[in-house]
Amino acid sequence: MIEQLQSLSATALAEIVSIHDDAALEEFRLRYLGKKGSVTALSAGMRDVPPDQRAAVGAKFNEVRTAITAALDEKKAALVAAADAKVAEGVDVTLPGRPLPRGGIHPMTQVLDRAVRILRRMGFALATGPEVETEWHCFDALNTPADHPARNESDTFYFDSGLLLRTHTSSVQIRTMQNQAPPVRIIAPGSAFRRDEIDATHLSAFNQLEGLYVAERVSLADLKGTLEHLLRALFGPNVEMRFRPHFFPFTEPSYEVDVKLAPKGQAPRWVEILGCGMVDPAVFRAICDSRKDDVYHPDKVTGFAFGMGLERLAMIQWGIGDIRHLIENDVRFLEQFV
Ligand code: PHE
Repeated sequence: MIEQLQSLSATALAEIVSIHDDAALEEFRLRYLGKKGSVTALSAGMRDVPPDQRAAVGAKFNEVRTAITAALDEKKAALVAAADAKVAEGVDVTLPGRPLPRGGIHPMTQVLDRAVRILRRMGFALATGPEVETEWHCFDALNTPADHPARNESDTFYFDSGLLLRTHTSSVQIRTMQNQAPPVRIIAPGSAFRRDEIDATHLSAFNQLEGLYVAERVSLADLKGTLEHLLRALFGPNVEMRFRPHFFPFTEPSYEVDVKLAPKGQAPRWVEILGCGMVDPAVFRAICDSRKDDVYHPDKVTGFAFGMGLERLAMIQWGIGDIRHLIENDVRFLEQFV
C-alpha cells in the first residue's frame, strides 16, 4: 500500500509539471483528489490493512494528499502570475495617462465663498432663513408700506396662501433679531426672487448676501469701515468707492455704494455694488412688538445693514457679459473657471 501511494504521488508530481492551463489543472485535481480520484480510490483499501500498519499507512495518505495539494496551489499561483505577465506585456507603462474630465467649483460658489470668508474674518456669523416667506418678514417688519411698488403682484411671486418668494435676503435680518438678543453680527447669503423680465442683467431667481450688525452704539463710521474693508478685499486695496445717498424703507440714512472699475480696454466707470444703511428705528420697533420685550429698543441699540447681488460680483470679477451664462450650465462656459 505504501509503495502504491509512493508511486502514485511520484506520477502525479511529475505530471503536474507539464500542465499549462486552468482546465487541465482542474481535471488533474479531480483525477487524483476528487471523489472518484485515484487517491480516494486507494483509501478504500485501508480496510484490508492489518491494524498494526494502519497508523503508518494513514500517515502516508496524509503526506501524499498534502504533497499533491501543495503542488496544485503552487501551480495555480504560477498560472495567475503568467496570465498577469501576459496582460502587462501589452501595456506601455511609459505612455502618458488619459486625463479624466475634472469638475470644478461653479463661479457663483467661488464668489460666494470669497465674500463669506472675508466677512467671517470680521466676525460675522452665517445665518439663514426660508425662501418662501411671509409678507410680514419680507415687507411689513422691514417698514415697507402696503402700497410700496416692490409689493406689487407684478414684482413679487405670491402664492395663493398669501406667502411669497422673498424678494431680498433682508427678511433674514428680521428672523435673526426675533430669535436672538443683541449684539448680532450676521451675514445671510441666499436666493431671492423677483418677477423681472429675464435679460443679460436680470434673472428672476438670483443670489444676494445680506449683512446685519446690531449692538450698542453701532455707527455710520462702523458701516463705512466694514464696507471699505470688504470692497478692498474684493476689488483690490486701491479701489475707489463712493457712498451715494439712496432710499430703502428699512434703513435711514441709506446709501448705494459704487466702485470705480475699468472693464478690459474701457474707460473706468462707477459700478453699483450694494445697498446699505443704518437700521431704521421702525424696524427695531417691529422687532420689539414681535418679541414682546425691548432689547431691540431704538434707544438701546443701533445697527447697520447691507445687501449685495452675488451674480453682479461674479460678472465683474470675470468680465461675464450676460448673467444667463451663470445658470445655463454650459460646460464650455463653466470649464473656464476650473
Ligand atoms: N434689500 C436691499 C435690496 O434688495 C438691499 C439692502 C439690504 C439695502 C440691507 C439696505 C440694507 O436691494
